[in-house]
Amino acid sequence: MNKSLGEQFHNDPRVREAKESLAKVLADYRNRITGVRPGDPALEERYEQWLHDTGRMRGRDLFFPYLGSGLGSGPLVELADGSVKMDFITGIGVHGTGHSHPAMLDAGIDGALEDTVMQGNLQQGPVACAVMELFLQAASGDGSRIAHCFLTSSGAMANENAFKIIFQKNAPASRFLAFRRCFTGRSLATAQMTDKAAYREGLPVTLHVDYVPFYNATRHDESILESVSVLREHLARHPGQYAGMCMELIQGEGGYYPGHREFFTALIEVLKEHHVAVMIDEVQSFGRTSSAFAFQYFGLQPLVDVVTVGKMSQVCATLYSEEYNPRPGLLSQTFTSSSAALHASRRILQDLLGGGYLGPEGTIMRMSERFRDHLRRLASAYPEQVGGPFGLGAMVAFTFADGQKDATVAFLKRLYRNGLMGFVAGGAPVRIRFLPPVMGITDADIDAAAAIIEQTLGEED
Ligand SMILES: Cc1ncc(COP(=O)(O)O)c(C=O)c1O
Repeated sequence: MNKSLGEQFHNDPRVREAKESLAKVLADYRNRITGVRPGDPALEERYEQWLHDTGRMRGRDLFFPYLGSGLGSGPLVELADGSVKMDFITGIGVHGTGHSHPAMLDAGIDGALEDTVMQGNLQQGPVACAVMELFLQAASGDGSRIAHCFLTSSGAMANENAFKIIFQKNAPASRFLAFRRCFTGRSLATAQMTDKAAYREGLPVTLHVDYVPFYNATRHDESILESVSVLREHLARHPGQYAGMCMELIQGEGGYYPGHREFFTALIEVLKEHHVAVMIDEVQSFGRTSSAFAFQYFGLQPLVDVVTVGKMSQVCATLYSEEYNPRPGLLSQTFTSSSAALHASRRILQDLLGGGYLGPEGTIMRMSERFRDHLRRLASAYPEQVGGPFGLGAMVAFTFADGQKDATVAFLKRLYRNGLMGFVAGGAPVRIRFLPPVMGITDADIDAAAAIIEQTLGEED
């Protein structure tokens, strides 16, 4: 088969040799990162200066005093002071293969070999085509009507694009529905959809959003009845004015609350009666359950109109049915992503779909269950301190003590000092959550993370 010069360049034996040589160098350095360790005193002064300068320039200190050195090994990451942490939050769910994964180095080199650093709507290459195809393949099957894919570079922008195509299709409806405690991002529109006052303080109201209570597993039947009734009230109060409802099926920032198939189908039935679009925000939940998408885990395939995805996929996307394909002019993007991110995305999607990660017995659920087993053990050994585990699949959380914010943040920082990175989620209670790198982790890593939690529980404040 004929090959373009570009293809010949990317596959030149000298390129392959250089890649193999870099892979060996990476392996040498990765092998030197063997576990959590404290910083090197000789690097401390420079590190403190970087932290200080970073805080000064951005106008506030970082949540964790974290500046990576550019090297890691799976969940282990070296910081620029030479210390090593165990990363179980992964940039809030982004680094699914962990740190310095050989496949990501390989993809990064492929990205560097491209003729441009960034790719966009006007000029892109076959790798963007491959990423779209993989997203659509991942979202297909079991009656799914998802037919199109539009790439972008952040979860918030994927959601913005979703709102726009839903509003355009259902114009002149100008209101949206969402779940209480939802998070959709930090742009002007997504900050308004997000149900957290502090995140939209001082912002003008340009989007009318009405909220429906999320599923409450402790009151299954009443919870469904209550949410359907609130939804019907909104629909009756503003007839014909709702364009869509945005749903996180496992609430992320809101506190790691999974929903239930019966809950979602009951609401969606009402939405369909009123021609309101069903939009699923999978920016955090993609690649975290036994299915690529949580909407598949909950068996909602035929019911979904628009889906957004991000974080672990590296490149973000808005996926939609034929019916929601917007008219020309509505969507465009100078950057869909960097060439390196596109190559990384292709590798991650290929591996996720074909590498034994999915399914009830797949790596994601098996690893998550192992971590949950540890948390269950800790909850029974330290009942005053540990509640849970909560969440679903590889979105794992527990409550520290009574879930009060200051105490939880203080515990999180003690975990960090001892070498384990997690983050907060939710309001009352505040939970400690983890998004482990499920595509780059071993059983031993999970056991080591649990050991750090246990060690920290045993310490004085
Ligand atoms: C459910 C959900 N939607 C959207 C976003 C926004 O994504 P980004 O931060 O990439 O804009 C996030 C980020 O945390 C999220 O969790």
